[in-house]
Amino acid sequence: MYKIRIHLIPQETIQQILETVQIEEVISEFVPLKRRGVNLLGNCPFHNEKTPSFTVSPAKGIYKCFGCGAAGNATKFLMEHEHYSYPEALKYLAKKYHIHIEEKEQTPEQIQATTERDSLLHVSEFAKDYFAKILWEDPKGKAIGLSYLRERGLSDALIKKFELGYSPDEWTAFTDYAQTNSYPLQSLKKTGLTIVKENNKVFDRFKARVMFPIHNMSGRVIGFGGRILKIEKSAAKYLNSPESDIYNKSKVLYGIYFAKQSILKLDNCFLVEGYTDVISLHQSGIENVVASSGTSLTTDQIKLIKRFTPNITILYDGDTAGIKASFRGIDMILEQGMNVKVVLFPEGEDPDSYARSHAAHEVEEFLDVQADDFIKFKTKLLSDEAANDPIKRGGLIKEIVQSIAIIPDEIMRSVYVKECSLLLDIPEQTLINDLNKRLRKGRQSQARSIPESDQQKLSSSPSQVQVRPETKSPLAYQEENLIRLLLQYGNQSFDYRFKENEKAEETVIEVNVAGFIIEQLDDDGLRFLNPVYQQIYEVYKTGLDEGKLPTHHVFINHANEEIVKIAADVLSTPYSLSENWLKKERIHVMSEEEMLLKTVNNSVLSFKQRKLEQEIHLLQNELKESAESEKEKVIMLILKKQNIQKLISERLGRIVLK
Ligand code: CTP
Ligand code: MN
Repeated sequence: MYKIRIHLIPQETIQQILETVQIEEVISEFVPLKRRGVNLLGNCPFHNEKTPSFTVSPAKGIYKCFGCGAAGNATKFLMEHEHYSYPEALKYLAKKYHIHIEEKEQTPEQIQATTERDSLLHVSEFAKDYFAKILWEDPKGKAIGLSYLRERGLSDALIKKFELGYSPDEWTAFTDYAQTNSYPLQSLKKTGLTIVKENNKVFDRFKARVMFPIHNMSGRVIGFGGRILKIEKSAAKYLNSPESDIYNKSKVLYGIYFAKQSILKLDNCFLVEGYTDVISLHQSGIENVVASSGTSLTTDQIKLIKRFTPNITILYDGDTAGIKASFRGIDMILEQGMNVKVVLFPEGEDPDSYARSHAAHEVEEFLDVQADDFIKFKTKLLSDEAANDPIKRGGLIKEIVQSIAIIPDEIMRSVYVKECSLLLDIPEQTLINDLNKRLRKGRQSQARSIPESDQQKLSSSPSQVQVRPETKSPLAYQEENLIRLLLQYGNQSFDYRFKENEKAEETVIEVNVAGFIIEQLDDDGLRFLNPVYQQIYEVYKTGLDEGKLPTHHVFINHANEEIVKIAADVLSTPYSLSENWLKKERIHVMSEEEMLLKTVNNSVLSFKQRKLEQEIHLLQNELKESAESEKEKVIMLILKKQNIQKLISERLGRIVLK
C-alpha cells in the first residue's frame, strides 16, 4: 500500500537525493529568485511582503526568510509550500533529478500491518460501493434513500460526488453480501460495519440508514456516518463508525478531501457541525468547508486545517446552547496561532437549512457580512446582558482578555487589545495590565504543572508578554547557545590546558568543541530539556563514540523537520566569536582559538549554572510541601547545590576576567 511503501525508501537513496539536490533549482520553480552575492533573494512565499527577505543559500543548501522566520532545506520547502509529506517530497526530488527509487523488501511485520490496514480500507471501499448501488439501483433504496436526499435539495451530481448511499432495512443484508464476496468477518467487525454479538450472532450496524462515507485526506473511505429516516425516539439520529486502525475520529474532518483545493485557493476554511451542512454548502458553490461531525473540535483537527490555511471561520447554529461551548473551540484555534472568525446563524437555522432556503449568492454574502472576529462575536453575545450590569461587564472583559492571552503572536495580541479597547471603551493600558498578569500567571502554572520537557518548548516559544518582552528562559537560552556551538564549531579543535591540582604540571590536550562539551555534560549526567536539542546532542555523542563527528549537512538534511529548522536557523545567522568577546575585552586581543575555548567553556558553565538554578527552584518548591521530618534533608540538598553554584560562579568570573 502506498502510505507504507513510501516510508521504505532506502537510506542510501535518500542520501543520494539529498546530495544531488540544488536547493535554488527546486525553489526557483515556485519562487522567482534573483542572485544577491553568494545567495539568492526573493519574495517570501510564506508571508506577504513587498521587499524580498527570502534568502536561499546554494552553498549551505538552505532557505531562510528574515521576515517570517521560515527556514529549512529543499525537502522542508516542498513540505511547507506544496504540503507534501516527507516521503512525497523525496519522491518529487528523485523524479526531478532522475534518481531511481528502489523500494526495500518489507519485513513480515510490515506486510502484516500493511495488509491489515489495507483490508480495512478495502472493506470500507466495498461497503461504500454497495450502499451507493442500493441507493441508485435497488427499488427500496431509490424510493426511500434517494428520494430523501433529493427532497433535501441535493443534486444527483452532489450525491454522487460525496458517494452517499443507503443501507437496507434488513438485519444482515450488507454482512451477507460482503461475506459472499469473500470479505472476512474479522475485517467487517473491525471496521464496525458488522456487529458481532456474544452469541456470535451478526448484524449490520447501519440498518436502514442513509450513508455518508467519511474520506481521508487522499480520498479513501475510512468510516461512515448513517442517518436514520424514521422518527424513533429510541434510536440515535446519526450512527458513526467506531474507531479503528484506519479511522481516528479526532484526526479526521468530514469533507477535507473535497475541500482542500478550495481552502488553499481561498485561504480560508469554514468549519461546520454536520455532514449535511458540508454538502449543502457545496450545493451553494461553497467548497472550502469541513465538519467536525459530532465530536468536539480537537487540536489535531485544527492542525489539519492549518496545513492549508491559517484562517478558520466557524459557522454556528442559531441555538445558544452550543455557543458557550464554542468558546473553547475558538480558544483552541487561537492557541494554534491561527485567525478565527465566527458566523452565527439566525435562531433555528443551521448552515444546511440556510443554504437550502437561500440563493447561492445570498449565502455567500451572508457569510461575508456576518463573519465577526472573536472579539466582536463575544462582545455581541455577552454585551446585551452585560450592558447595564457592571459585574457582568467585568466578566465579559476578562473573558475576552483571557482569549487574547492565548494568542502566541505578540503583534496580533496588541491588535486585539486595541480593538477590544475601542469596542468596550476601556483604556488600552488597563487591558494590557490584565493581559500581562494573565500571561505571567499562565507561565507560572505551566511551570508547575507541565512536565520538564515541555517547559522548554513553552519558554522558548515566542508566546511571551506583550509589553514586557521576555523571550526565552535563561536555561532555554543556554541550551540554544550550546547547540549553536555544536553546529557551528563542533569539529574545530583547540588546546585545552589544565592542572590536576595546584602543584601539578600543566597538561595540554587537544580537544574538539563537541568532545569538550559532551565530556563536560556527561560527567554531570546533564541532559537538554528541549527534546530536539537532546536529539541533536545525541547525534554528536554517537559520532564521538564512533570517531566520526557529524557535519552540519547531517542536520540540514535530517528527517526530523524540527532539526532541519534549527540547523537552518543557526547556520543562516552565524554568531561571530570575536563580536562576542570584543564587547567584554576591548584591550586583550585573542586568537580565534582562544576565543573559542573561552566561549565553549563559558557556555558549558553557564548551562550548568542554569540547570542548578532550576534544580534549586524545584527543591524550594518541594520544601514548601514536604513534611517537617523531610525538610532538613531537602535544605541540605539545596545548600549543596548552592555551593556548587558558587564554585562555578567563581570559575566563570575568573575566565571572564582573566
Ligand atoms: N451527530 C452524531 N450523532 C448524533 C447526532 C449528531 O454524530 N446522534 C453529528 C453528525 O455528524 C451530525 C452533526 O453531529 O451531522 C450535527 O448534528 P445535527 O445538527 O443534529 O444534524 P444535522 O447535520 O443537522 O442533520 P440533519 O439536518 O439531517 O438533521
Ligand atoms: Mn440539519
